[in-house]
Amino acid sequence: MPDTPAPQFALASGAPVGTRADVLVLFAEEAPKPNGVVAEVNQALSGQLLRAATEEGFRGKADQTFILHTHGKLPAARVVLVGTGPRERTDAESLRQAAGRAVKAAQRVRARSVAMAVPGDPGETLGPVAEGAMLGAYRFDQYRTEGREERVPLEAVRLLLPDGASRSRPLGEVLERALHVTDAANFARTLVNEPAGRLTPEALAEEASQAAKGRGLEVRVSGPRELKKLRMGMFYAVGQGSQNTPRLIEISYRPKKAAAARLRPVSLVGKAITFDSGGLSLKSAENMADMKSDMAGSAAVLGALQVAAELALPFPVLGYLGAAENMPSGAAYRPGDILVSRLGKTVEVTNTDAEGRLVLGDVLAYAGEQNPAALIDLATLTGACVVALGHWVAGLFSNSDGLASELLAAAARAGESFWRLPLVDLQRETLRSDVADMKNLGDRWGGAISAAIFLREFVGDAAWAHLDIAGPALAPRERGYLGKGATGIGVRTLAEFLEKRARSGD
Ligand code: BES
Ligand code: MN
Ligand code: ZN
Repeated sequence: MPDTPAPQFALASGAPVGTRADVLVLFAEEAPKPNGVVAEVNQALSGQLLRAATEEGFRGKADQTFILHTHGKLPAARVVLVGTGPRERTDAESLRQAAGRAVKAAQRVRARSVAMAVPGDPGETLGPVAEGAMLGAYRFDQYRTEGREERVPLEAVRLLLPDGASRSRPLGEVLERALHVTDAANFARTLVNEPAGRLTPEALAEEASQAAKGRGLEVRVSGPRELKKLRMGMFYAVGQGSQNTPRLIEISYRPKKAAAARLRPVSLVGKAITFDSGGLSLKSAENMADMKSDMAGSAAVLGALQVAAELALPFPVLGYLGAAENMPSGAAYRPGDILVSRLGKTVEVTNTDAEGRLVLGDVLAYAGEQNPAALIDLATLTGACVVALGHWVAGLFSNSDGLASELLAAAARAGESFWRLPLVDLQRETLRSDVADMKNLGDRWGGAISAAIFLREFVGDAAWAHLDIAGPALAPRERGYLGKGATGIGVRTLAEFLEKRARSGD
């Protein structure tokens, strides 16, 4: 896929007042007195920085940025003050958001180089600052031909470390980890932003193969004939109406050490509907274009596999992308069709727009056959989840309290929001069918729950979690390190989750 190249990141030391850059970024907390670095730069500018900032109403609040030209008084051409809010409420996520906002402000003034004064203990803050900067620098503009000259690429980000600050962790490693994870998240964003006419199931398989190359990941791609052979009747049916035929994309990470490679895997399943028109139960025209994002779950899985390889995790991670295009045509599956799943359970299709659960049901059953230590699926599964939780929070369902709390803790560290929703057994009866083991759609109430209950029918006794990311797959507006459009949700949470498991030796 065409993509705007990421800036180069480097660690540096030396005083911010002496640093040459198009933009010098200083983090400012909401406090009566400026912190040391801000005071130093202010002094070098004869007090003009804080005078101007105060006059413009800048008080270091968590949504504020202020920019000042230095007119040759400093080696840096401009200073950006970025608010982080009150100190007692500053955490990794507020630093990420601030760093992202600062980079976006720098890009608006066409900066090629940015220097950021890393605040506090860099062992704690360097990671979030680098992550926010890398995510904030992301743009999806390769299809805009107008004004191309004006869009100067941000080429370099220097992270200035405070002199003699405590270095509780090797900082080179911290930076490298941050860049691996956010690079994977940005890759996921590009896959989601890419229009469905280009990112077909076949093209997604090609992307997976490209990503695997040079990282020691193994990829296996199965087409429609193999899906039939695998008896994935539900998955096959969803794809049968499109010229762009379905693909099951398996991408595996296995550690080099033989003993580690034999451990039970963590298995990740992603919904990869490259375009969801609804099929014969056609969606309305309004917002149908957003359905190019119906493969966001699989983009997150692909990103997570990339991270697993780059961080050389000590256990296998297996990814399964169920890729199909849901289209109406003379060959499409129909309402009323009865499908036979890989597990043998039969499903009456009452609505062809409830297609994600059909694909995932077969792929979850298949992934479960490897006896994974944890089985996690990510899917833009239901509009009902967007109604329930909005665009900033994803739903989490799990049959294991342990796995649910591990994932919620990982998400909190990563700065992604998930909210656990219940698997209500009573809701199973809405899926009863007169002619098959179940229907693919219940009534309108609790739609996110019924969808999760449907999936549960296919997971057996694995420790399983289902992440319904329909809301946060796309951001409705620019915010912090996110622009409008794909967010890469899931990559950073999965990375944290996998790394924590690696640390605890599970
Ligand atoms: N991909 C959609 C879910 C979705 C909706 C994702 C909005 C992102 C934003 C899914 O396949 C779907 O169409 N679900 C329908 C089910 C319908 C038949 C009741 C829905 O939730 O509206
Ligand atoms: Mn649908
Ligand atoms: Zn869908």
